[in-house]
Amino acid sequence: MPTADKPLIARTYAIATAAFLSLVIVSSAFAADIGDERRAELAYMFEQDCGSCHGLSMKGGLGSPLLPEIMADRDDETLIHIILEGVPGTPMPPWKMLLSRDDAVWLVQLIRKGR
Ligand code: HEC
Repeated sequence: MPTADKPLIARTYAIATAAFLSLVIVSSAFAADIGDERRAELAYMFEQDCGSCHGLSMKGGLGSPLLPEIMADRDDETLIHIILEGVPGTPMPPWKMLLSRDDAVWLVQLIRKGR
């Protein structure tokens, strides 16, 4: 059976899958340069360590809320800088001893996604 005779739905599905895969490949080119294992460690750290101040659902506690709608006002560089250097004079500690810049980039993506 020639391809053109395939049901429209099957062709639509194939096109959608191809479009989705190319999107994943393109977007990952801009993602932080870290592996899956490190991402899992960071997600855990985000919940346990960052969450201990910012709240398990990032709605705030001792630390300010890190909700995506609030973070939308801040640019990536500001957030990366705060995570690595902390905010002097406040309880927000610098994390650069534990986190690379790529780690911080990925955490900012996690914050923007929300939870
Ligand atoms: C000991 C408590 C504490 C921990 C742990 C902590 N933070 Fe914070 N964080 C704060 C406080 C307090 C502020 C608000 C500082 C200020 O007044 O500007 C803050 C601010 C921030 C901001 C800026 C928010 C804004 O509104 O601009 C970001 C981003 C942030 N923290 C990310 C993190 C991440 C990521 C972690 C974990 C790696 C983390 N914090 C761990 C206390 C904490």
